[in-house]
Amino acid sequence: KRIALFASGSGSNAEKIAEYCAAYADIDVALMLSNNPRAGVIERARRLHIPVLLFDRTTFYNSDRITTLLQQQQIDLIVLAGFMWLMPAGLVQAFPDRIINIHPALLPKFGGKGMYGHFVHEAVVAAGETESGITIHYVNERYDEGQIIVQASCPVDPADTPDDVARKVQKLEHAYYPRVVVDLLNQLETRP
Ligand code: GRF
Repeated sequence: KRIALFASGSGSNAEKIAEYCAAYADIDVALMLSNNPRAGVIERARRLHIPVLLFDRTTFYNSDRITTLLQQQQIDLIVLAGFMWLMPAGLVQAFPDRIINIHPALLPKFGGKGMYGHFVHEAVVAAGETESGITIHYVNERYDEGQIIVQASCPVDPADTPDDVARKVQKLEHAYYPRVVVDLLNQLETRP
């Protein structure tokens, strides 16, 4: 089975997934794609010997080059790990129920455009939530609205800062996302 990772930032989730998949002989992390030439994930991919593909908005939204490439690469699962752009409709339609994402909150709360990174944890603390967590879901054309695959929660204590919440949530991300990716791949039939 072959996966492609999309990331825009540091890439700690992408790295954990790649490291976990390395233990499975039948799983190949074929490609790391990013829209950000300065993303920390590029260096992580290099260290992990994963080919990196950078693209800009025009390529991503005004051509089907990325979709075609992913089909040619016979990608079985597309994994978004801190990827900040909306997936183009054409790409979502070409890979139905084969694109997943992780959101650092318990959707449907604290989701949607603009709710990413630290803003999420600030909003959770500001709202006085007593818990937060992660949501791993299928991707469709609208931000954070695809079918939920799994959620995991952590307590938010009154004295917690957004950074404290971020740390607890990231621990859940790194613990869950790699395992969900492998479980889904094991359930997939290889692309016809
Ligand atoms: C994580 O909080 C993830 O939930 C969100 O973006 C962040 C990515 O962090 N989608 P990293 O780049 O994987 O460290």
